[in-house]
Amino acid sequence: MRRFIIAGNWKMNKTIVDAIELANGIKRELYDIESLDIVICTPFTALSEVGEVVVDSNIDLGGQDLFWEEKGAYTGEISAGMLKDAGCKYVIIGHSERRKHFAETNETVNKKLKSALKTGLLPIVCVGERLEEREAKKTFDVIKDHVENSLKGISKEDILKTTIAYEPVWAIGTGKTATPEQAEEVHAFIRGLLTKLYDEATASAIRIQYGGSVTPDNVEGLLGKENIDGALVGGASLKLDSFSSMIKKASKLK
Ligand code: 13P
Repeated sequence: MRRFIIAGNWKMNKTIVDAIELANGIKRELYDIESLDIVICTPFTALSEVGEVVVDSNIDLGGQDLFWEEKGAYTGEISAGMLKDAGCKYVIIGHSERRKHFAETNETVNKKLKSALKTGLLPIVCVGERLEEREAKKTFDVIKDHVENSLKGISKEDILKTTIAYEPVWAIGTGKTATPEQAEEVHAFIRGLLTKLYDEATASAIRIQYGGSVTPDNVEGLLGKENIDGALVGGASLKLDSFSSMIKKASKLK
């Protein structure tokens, strides 16, 4: 059975002091949750200190992005090794905000994914259609393109370490969550693609998270669906009460 994974993507929010405070709160509130994986992805500046807060706890640390080269003259970039050094276990790759604002493509996502895996980080690869693509009935084409091209050349062993996050762009930060049925339809489609790319046993072991306006009010409906194995949470992960309440609810489902 797939274990749920709930990750908070803090995006460009929180000073170091605020990040430490929130991480301490999460650790305190959720210390006894063992049935699911809890990840917090802080800004780069806070990783190392938040890493010290959550070390030896049930909370894992994640980066929000990385660059694929190991080191060198790449001003402003952070490598997979640097994320590990700061205490990260996970890294988000190919978030739609990076695709939109920083011109990321499936090709760059693929390079980042390979670098993360080579370095021993567990990647969370984001895919998802924009509103105009959904309205033009291109959702499945876009998802197929994102999944097949982002995962190009990834072995069966490595895909098992990877989480896919389905984040419909129209649901991110808008309060317009996909209904559990809408999300499940795409998650099942993604699992079908993974079955074709790998095999049924592999596809059925890969976790597919949903992201886009997940809150304590809708998390149970979403996670109650067969192919939804967790959540990637933005806004609601920035507050202790909403993030911890969502995780407590999820922990009672499995
Ligand atoms: P919101 O939960 O704020 O919609 O953000 C979702 C997201 O982008 C997580 O990566």
